[in-house]
Amino acid sequence: MSRLQPTRAFDIPSSVVTSVSPHAPQSHEAPWWRHAVLYQVYPRSFADSDGDGVGDLPGLTARLPYLADLGVDALWISPFYVSPMIDAGYDVADYRDVDPLFGTLADVDVLIEAAHGHGLRVLIDLVPNHTSGEHTWFRAALASGPGSPERERYLFREGRGEQGNEPPNNWKSVFGGSAWTRVTEADGTLGQWYLHLFDSLQPDLNWRNPQVVDEFHDVLRFWLDRGVDGFRVDVAHALLKDEAMPDWQEKAVMAASHSEGAEHANLGPMWDQDGVHEIYRAWRSILDSYNPQGDPALDRILCAEAWLPSQQRTMRYVRPDEMHQAFNFHFLETSWRAKDVRTVIDDSLEAADAVGAPTTWVLSNHDVVRHASRLGLRVGASRPNGIGARSVQPNAVLGLRRARAATALMLALPGSAYLYNGEELGLPEHTALPDRVRQDPAFFRTKGKEIGRDGCRVPLPWEAGAPSYGFGPSPDGATWLPQPLVYGSLAADRQEGVTGSTLEIYRSMLRLRRVHDLGVGGLRWIDGYGAQVLAFVNARKDGIPITVLTNLGDAAVALPESAEVLVCSGRLEDGLLPQDTTVWLAQRDRM
Ligand code: NOJ
Repeated sequence: MSRLQPTRAFDIPSSVVTSVSPHAPQSHEAPWWRHAVLYQVYPRSFADSDGDGVGDLPGLTARLPYLADLGVDALWISPFYVSPMIDAGYDVADYRDVDPLFGTLADVDVLIEAAHGHGLRVLIDLVPNHTSGEHTWFRAALASGPGSPERERYLFREGRGEQGNEPPNNWKSVFGGSAWTRVTEADGTLGQWYLHLFDSLQPDLNWRNPQVVDEFHDVLRFWLDRGVDGFRVDVAHALLKDEAMPDWQEKAVMAASHSEGAEHANLGPMWDQDGVHEIYRAWRSILDSYNPQGDPALDRILCAEAWLPSQQRTMRYVRPDEMHQAFNFHFLETSWRAKDVRTVIDDSLEAADAVGAPTTWVLSNHDVVRHASRLGLRVGASRPNGIGARSVQPNAVLGLRRARAATALMLALPGSAYLYNGEELGLPEHTALPDRVRQDPAFFRTKGKEIGRDGCRVPLPWEAGAPSYGFGPSPDGATWLPQPLVYGSLAADRQEGVTGSTLEIYRSMLRLRRVHDLGVGGLRWIDGYGAQVLAFVNARKDGIPITVLTNLGDAAVALPESAEVLVCSGRLEDGLLPQDTTVWLAQRDRM
């Protein structure tokens, strides 16, 4: 029993009947990544050890006990490579070294060893689609002329029009503006154009060039040799472009569902070309070679970041000889409506089961509005790229309530789940950052039309009473992005040991998820609670079945008789489950 709620008996609704089983239980021996909870660390914002106001690797290492205590299984660390930080490190200038902002290679070694000592696996971020404009390869490409082998590592093309003044095609950058930039050649004349699906200082690599392929095989080995347990693969669906590079009228977007005016946006010729799968098959065999005996505990893994319009296309990346996991952005983008949530769960399990992969679940990351704020927006509103002071503001109380309910639902589902740093504190988006501190290239390239992602990247609060809320020892408490006042009341030390705090609820859920092996359980829906209630049982073959109810309707719901409340995302009211609340129940005598 959780220390958060007392055991109670409840009335059983007479109409409850069990129905469909969209997912069968898996073996207990399943490899770790089929059920793991992975915690995304955004290193700039996690913990600062040296007082420069930016998080770093020693800061993260010092906080590992907190993460072990939270109960996650693995970390995914966003990029810490050498970078001019045009896109917060997703513009890599050297794939084999650490930016001084974050520390040194020796700090990575210490971090990996300490994490392993705490039983935490470590995934790092691999950014293969593009380099930084400051990468030695790109500098060499600029210095060498058209047709040179140096240019062949990137996607240089002649411009259209008489003087080549027009870009080679009409592709747009995900961050706004054209996806092409023209270079000035060594003799001072305007020359070729190069492709960049993101910022102009993130030139896209030419993955049809064997040198590029070999280079990344070597980079994989470099980090595998250092002991990492895997890689999250940035824009995994972008590496190859349709060779003809035909015009494409729509904006390239990072969104899984279709949005108005961009119905086919992520079906364009820059995404999801069949050839990318060969790249990942080769990577898989490299990773597998580090586990020759096939010990499931020693698997090193790949997780695809691929924003694609259908679960089926996404699951092509996790066929048995390719990657292990792909982010389930369909789940993240689903509206807070019972029907929609049930549909996406069914679709996710079905699509993943069809290729024998585990599904993943995710609600927040460094690219989207934090779900404690996103779910406080109008249900059905399109997902904004950032929220600014002049935008429609989320309802913070409602958002947090729904976020806790949504996370409690997510963590009870079979499969693997991803958490984003700070969500265990219930952190909201910073919705009032002054424009002068913004850093997201999307804000600048869209001339402020898109607010961008800075609001979800604000440094974490650890101690309410300390400067920078304990983020680090900067003399004036300054942090690279300013923290909102509300972060003080949500600091980790304010929630530690407090019954019903978001942090304690996450800890309880993660502990129970492990105890009951929910990640490898089977899922069976229960009907009879009405259309606004999601009700299912997660059970492994010989374990205690866990019943999960999420109430999205406004009528409070009676719980089944003789149910023991294990954890609740909010408070029961007179023994009933109120709106926007999830409860996990054990029913020992009924199953
Ligand atoms: C996806 C990353 O998550 C995002 O932060 C980055 O801006 C783009 N890829 C480009 O690397």
